Amino acid sequence: MVHTKKDRGSLQEARDQGTKVPNFFGKSERARQYEFYGLISTHFASIPQHTSEGSIFVVWFGTTPRLTISDPALIRQILVEKSEFFEKNESPALVRELEGDGLLSLKGEKWAHHRKIIQPMFHTENLKLMVPIMGKSMEEATEKWSEEMGLTSGGKMEVEVSDWYKKLVEEVIARATFGGSYQDGRPIFELQAQQMVHATQAYHQVFIPGYRLLPTKKNINSRRLEKEVRKSLVNLIDGRMRNKDTAFHKDLLGLMINATTTTTDDPELEITVNDIVQECKTIFFAGKHTTIQLLTWTTVLLAAHPQWQELARHEVLTVCGSRDIPTEDHLPKLKLLSMILNESLRLYPPAVAMIRRAKGDIRLGGGLHVLRGTELLIPILAVHHDPALWGGDAHEFNPMRFAKGVAHAAKHPMAFLPFGLGTRRCIGQNLAILQAKLAIAIILRRFSFELADDYSHSPSVLMLLHPQHGAPMLFRKLN
Ligand code: HEM
Repeated sequence: MVHTKKDRGSLQEARDQGTKVPNFFGKSERARQYEFYGLISTHFASIPQHTSEGSIFVVWFGTTPRLTISDPALIRQILVEKSEFFEKNESPALVRELEGDGLLSLKGEKWAHHRKIIQPMFHTENLKLMVPIMGKSMEEATEKWSEEMGLTSGGKMEVEVSDWYKKLVEEVIARATFGGSYQDGRPIFELQAQQMVHATQAYHQVFIPGYRLLPTKKNINSRRLEKEVRKSLVNLIDGRMRNKDTAFHKDLLGLMINATTTTTDDPELEITVNDIVQECKTIFFAGKHTTIQLLTWTTVLLAAHPQWQELARHEVLTVCGSRDIPTEDHLPKLKLLSMILNESLRLYPPAVAMIRRAKGDIRLGGGLHVLRGTELLIPILAVHHDPALWGGDAHEFNPMRFAKGVAHAAKHPMAFLPFGLGTRRCIGQNLAILQAKLAIAIILRRFSFELADDYSHSPSVLMLLHPQHGAPMLFRKLN
């Protein structure tokens, strides 16, 4: 990626200092929020965004040039109308180890076959069955937090919300993946979480070719974790395969194991134990941190905008009445909360960009001729902050823009794409939204919250958009 000297300075300053919240959300809120966008997108900000071709420019990633396309009409062509002319690019080796060789990276028929097998796990009817289970585990967690608060002076407590959400999200994904074998599956995800810590540390370091193969203490540990994850998953799969009495729910393990019994003409498409291992890794990788970031940013926004926090709480109390935990029938009625989640995904999309590669020469609208092998970058974050699409208040938190639905929130119906678009759009979208609604509703009912004095607003991108200095908040128990 090429930065100008000036860009590097502002990025570095942002990283070193963060920016104090009162400036961001106080008097000069508007000006400062513009600044936030500049901090994380200097490479977009430094280049004219709107040309007659509709904001197209090249950005260098090391030695690879990527054509950046932020016009929603062209994005629709790439991801929907002419998607067969584009494919996903390969992730860096380190990310590949973590994400597994599953849905995220598969291509062609193998991808289509796996997607068809896994899809039922995310059908609304199947997810609805999970609501009481999710609600119960969230209730247990919030009760524990309430007890801890009861022991503190004034019933309030400073917490790092992303830590809170980490456990909630891990538990839900483990249940969705392993179903009845959830207790046996949990330690596997814990091992994978440790692996992720190792990989994230390595991601921060300077890349030295071949370094990963050296027998350093960290590399030995990483390989041990990799072996353990694999061994535990294989044991779990063997157990489920042998135990014919175990009812197969529509969990990932059950769906994939069922698929091993169907024969296909193409040996490439037969589901093996290794395929199941890879898909378990992929679901955990793709679902965990994205959902944690959605929950974290939404809580930050509600803490920074107490009037919206109050409105959302009022809606939860009105819709759910005396029920402590919302049911699957309540969730679709929480309209304001849906708008708030959409606005959070717009301002702080956990996945900031998507990449595609042209499989052949292809002509797109506006006379754009893309040559075979060209990599295209679709900057979700930039599209979501574009005043030409979202109006003069594009950088402000205004959930009302979603009042008439997602398709009418911006000047173009494809301008909102936090989960991607087309056939490769996020398979876990419904699970993420369901979980976020449930968790935020339960929290709004039980606690009020504000940003802690030491909260420093510094959105930063490390694979995903996250608060670089964490999200410490003061929580107060409500009666
Ligand atoms: C707020 C939460 C989430 C966000 C913002 C998000 C975002 C995305 C995006 C943008 C893509 C498309 C990538 C591309 O086209 O290059 C994607 C794909 C994917 N996501 Fe999510 N995701 C979220 C939650 C989840 C969850 C909870 C799961 C699973 C439990 C999941 C599993 C996947 C998988 C497997 C794919 C690849 C789909 C395919 O190519 O067929 N995601 N996600």
